[in-house]
Amino acid sequence: MHHFQYREGKLHAEEVGVRQLAEQYGTPLYIYSAATLRRHFEAFDSAFRGLDHLTCYSVKANSNVSLLRLLAQQGAGMDIVSGGELYRALKAGVAPEKIVYSGVGKKTHEIREALEAGILMFNVESTAELERINEVAGDMGKVAKVSFRINPDVDPKTHPYISTGMKKNKFGLDIEHSLKAYERARDMEFVEPVGMDCHIGSQLTTIEPFLEALDKLIAFYNQLGDMGVEIKFLDLGGGLGIRYNEEEPPHPEEFGKALTEKLKDLPLTVILEPGRVIAGNAGIMITEVVYTKQTPSKNFVIVDGAMNDLVRPALYDSYHRIAEVEERGRGVVDVDIVGPICESSDFLARDRDIPAVEQGELLAVFSAGAYGFTMSSNYNSRRRACELLVDGDKVTVARKRETYEDLIRGEI
Ligand code: LLP
Repeated sequence: MHHFQYREGKLHAEEVGVRQLAEQYGTPLYIYSAATLRRHFEAFDSAFRGLDHLTCYSVKANSNVSLLRLLAQQGAGMDIVSGGELYRALKAGVAPEKIVYSGVGKKTHEIREALEAGILMFNVESTAELERINEVAGDMGKVAKVSFRINPDVDPKTHPYISTGMKKNKFGLDIEHSLKAYERARDMEFVEPVGMDCHIGSQLTTIEPFLEALDKLIAFYNQLGDMGVEIKFLDLGGGLGIRYNEEEPPHPEEFGKALTEKLKDLPLTVILEPGRVIAGNAGIMITEVVYTKQTPSKNFVIVDGAMNDLVRPALYDSYHRIAEVEERGRGVVDVDIVGPICESSDFLARDRDIPAVEQGELLAVFSAGAYGFTMSSNYNSRRRACELLVDGDKVTVARKRETYEDLIRGEI
């Protein structure tokens, strides 16, 4: 996180003072660092230099068009899960032949849009979806390239809400059903099975589950070869974790090395779908203290950033480091940092020791670049925040703060 640094006690985003940005653009405010995004993409992508590969950034982590454009300029492909994400990726200038489409519920119009755009392939999650893709492609006189998402039944040892590769999860096909699906696809007229796909979960902090899944996929790959299905792409999904607090996830270099070791002799193009590891620590959210309040049992710091802006603490009890924007050297107090929303789950931190803060002062919520703004909502009729992209001393408004009119657009 070298690009969010304190200089003489004042937090900067690259070359720009954060207080100045908050004064100019208001709070809550998301600030992304372009240099960090480039560095993270480069570190991840270059970790796979030993393999024929394509890094498809996972759009759901942070889908702002300015950010997508920056990554596309670095050579990134994209992993999408909806027609909306396809629209964004194309607007950002991503080459369609670098787009892979995942997700369990692709609708007919979304399949059509993706075929029209000419994406690289669909990561198919059920036989019903396979039939649908064959039908739509047939109507359009096209052949759709597909992978099947294999559910390898591996425990990723992460939060249950973001575990996706276990038997009980809704994602993908188990290996036995996949065999039948490949057979069926092989015989279809408008579908060509070209790949295998897997994504076992998010915020993984060890490499072992990835390797365990990979071993299963490689065994299955050999089985498919015997069946006469020729696989060219192996998509390993995303999931590499980041440091929010005390976690010590493997560095991308170490991750790349371990996977390369297993894959280097296979004639495959490897696809990676990193989201959080690219965007997570490239963004912060700035919030202003509206009031402080002492009750017999707690010290509350009431801020203007709420669960509608950053839902991760409310939804997963996630930890985000929170610190003053301007260090004042005050003593530490134990506080709950809460938003104005009418829910007790509306907190950014609970029982957290931070230096005492006063009304009007600013706090920075770190590691907010991934699954921050993209999961935000208008709950309590709150306008969604402004997003800035800082590049050196250059500031771009990547998204304007919503207006009250935006709130009722489309309502009668
Ligand atoms: N590929 C697929 C098919 C995915 O489902 C996901 C994330 C990714 C790639 C990217 O995973 P990453 O590299 O970011 O771990 N909202 C949750 C995270 C949900 C992740 C969903 N899938 C959170 O805030 O922690």
